[in-house]
Amino acid sequence: MKDILTAPFIVEMIRTATNMYDHGWDERNGGNISLLLDEAEVGEYLALDTVLRTISTGFSAPELNGKYFLVTGTGKYFKNVQYAPEVNLGIVRLTNGGESAELLWGFTDGGRFTSEFPAHMMSHVARLKVDGENKVVMHCHPGNLLAMTYVHTLDEREFTRTLWQMCTECIVVFPDGVNVLPWMLCGTNEIGEATAKKMETARLVVWAQHGIYGAGKDLDETFGLIETAEKAAEIFMKIAHLPRVNTITDEQMHQLEKRFGVKGREGYLK
Ligand code: 13P
Ligand code: ZN
Repeated sequence: MKDILTAPFIVEMIRTATNMYDHGWDERNGGNISLLLDEAEVGEYLALDTVLRTISTGFSAPELNGKYFLVTGTGKYFKNVQYAPEVNLGIVRLTNGGESAELLWGFTDGGRFTSEFPAHMMSHVARLKVDGENKVVMHCHPGNLLAMTYVHTLDEREFTRTLWQMCTECIVVFPDGVNVLPWMLCGTNEIGEATAKKMETARLVVWAQHGIYGAGKDLDETFGLIETAEKAAEIFMKIAHLPRVNTITDEQMHQLEKRFGVKGREGYLK
């Protein structure tokens, strides 16, 4: 059996959590990440028949039965993941139609997965239906996106158009746009279901006055998605109080669509 701390999925998870903390997106225990793992991949590092504990999830997700996830722990600080991965991260296998999670590694202090596990798992189900390659769901609290939800309409088309107008490459990186949920109580099955519904049509879902969710095929891509949206929100927050003299026009967006072979969300461009 190989040393799990050398597994590419652990190394990449540590790097990503550290990078997110360094970007200021994950104060205290803010944010959480889940990464879908391959059974064969996990089997190189862990005895798959050795279950440390079984944890109830509080929801069902039959589509994910038997699937393995590397996930951040509830109450854990992203800044500490690099120093104690086995305390702050865990590997679970969903069983019993997703109602239980078998802990195979990690959470060594008796901890459990993020309180946002429902939103993560339900979003995995939703994204896998759209894209069989989806592996990552990521949540964090980037300052400018959060600030924007206080001063900008939460209308999804308007919110997306504003972000697209802030940096030339936004429409290329997230042509599907950004969906938005109004403020809701976090950590519940209800916000999980609402997030998953929004994930059916976009890989980015803003939680007003809270943060953002991103989904993608790997950690890098998902990080980059949030990074690009947050950069756009940063520009918006720099200019929102100033008269706008120039912008990226819809005609220019159409040029970008053609040049990069992408298609902006239906009905979002004139
Ligand atoms: P957890 O510590 O449970 O992951 O919660 C952090 C968070 O961002 C809640 O939305
Ligand atoms: Zn949060």
